[in-house]
Amino acid sequence: KWDNVRAQEIIAAHASLDGPALPVLHALQMEFGYIPNDAVPLVASILNLSRAEVHGTVTFYHDFRRTPAGKHVLKLCRAEACQAMNGSEIARGLLERLGIGWGETTSDGTLTVEGVYCLGLCACAPSALFDGQPRGRLDQEMLDAVVREARG
Ligand code: FES
Repeated sequence: KWDNVRAQEIIAAHASLDGPALPVLHALQMEFGYIPNDAVPLVASILNLSRAEVHGTVTFYHDFRRTPAGKHVLKLCRAEACQAMNGSEIARGLLERLGIGWGETTSDGTLTVEGVYCLGLCACAPSALFDGQPRGRLDQEMLDAVVREARG
């Protein structure tokens, strides 16, 4: 859970680095699992940056999560080799069935679906990571099985 006091300590601990914004944001995400909107003015004031600069950094890097993740995280590859193997279509179908968009979490909080750009698993495209475990040669049924697994 987000904690302003703890966040201030983390920001201050990295403030003397050269170009501290990225290490600070990574440290905040490590601690809290995401970077809430409230973090932006806090980071900006302690690091003496503009809010726009901090906001720009948070939104530029896809690694930063803006809201807490669901219980399970599915990272679907959106890079070329996986797209060529029908990856975009099965991803679109899955998101539609779940009623969410990229980077969003299902309403029951069980699954977050994120896009990634090449997992180095192109040989078994389309591929994904489910809670950090590789899954390859995906099709609709396999993705539905992942959802069932996530929902327990
Ligand atoms: Fe998807 Fe490489 S393009 S794993």
